[in-house]
Amino acid sequence: MVKRTPLIAGNWKMNLNLAESDSLIASVGEAIGGLEQVEVLVAPPFTSLAHVKKSIGRFKIFLAGQNMHEELSGAFTGEISAAMLLEAGCTHVILGHSERRSLFQETDQRINNKAVAAIKAGLVPIVCIGETLEEREAGRTFEIVRTQLNGSLRDFKAQKQLPKVLVLAYEPVWAIGTGKTASPEQAQEVHLIIRAWLKEHFGGPSAEATRILYGGSVKSDNIKELMAQADIDGALVGGASLKAGTFIPIIKYQ
Ligand code: PGA
Repeated sequence: MVKRTPLIAGNWKMNLNLAESDSLIASVGEAIGGLEQVEVLVAPPFTSLAHVKKSIGRFKIFLAGQNMHEELSGAFTGEISAAMLLEAGCTHVILGHSERRSLFQETDQRINNKAVAAIKAGLVPIVCIGETLEEREAGRTFEIVRTQLNGSLRDFKAQKQLPKVLVLAYEPVWAIGTGKTASPEQAQEVHLIIRAWLKEHFGGPSAEATRILYGGSVKSDNIKELMAQADIDGALVGGASLKAGTFIPIIKYQ
């Protein structure tokens, strides 16, 4: 069995000013100290990235963009490239978050192009997928998840090669910011489907090595049970990642 290092990622969305960011980073950095068994990541808004990179200093906290454009440069007003994220100190980028999909019309094809561009540039993509409540209630969860995987990882699938570093995040849309978490069993069921899809297209070793995060109302009181599931390898945390008091216990779930 391959050991997958858990990753706890905080998606700040459009929250926290610079002073709040500094204080959060200082508290989280101090609290995790030399923690070896879990990787920690934060994804601040674009305008805070370079500043947060400085406040991270020597703390073991990875920095991620919340999105990027697939082109390296050019006439794309309002967009940010992989090269810019790298320059600001990012190592990772969140792609295809459900808010990007639903509020900004991002398609699987677009997410595929971004994931390819991120890998080419040397960023670790965290590719998000997940069904809506309507889709779940219609019994379409597995079909939707597979369709999103087929589309968002299309080029890698065509090459039958998944970049080793790529991370997936299963985030049921109905559980994001709603306080409704998927039960550990519900989450595990889908994570297993995702891993089976990975195995089918990239082979066993690649499927076993790939981290699949769970996201959607993760809190200190449900993280332990979620992480106890065989195919859950970390969490993408929104609301609870904005305060040290709620984020630190999630990081230290063990
Ligand atoms: P939440 O958000 O933890 O606030 O539900 C998760 C996410 O959107 O990544």
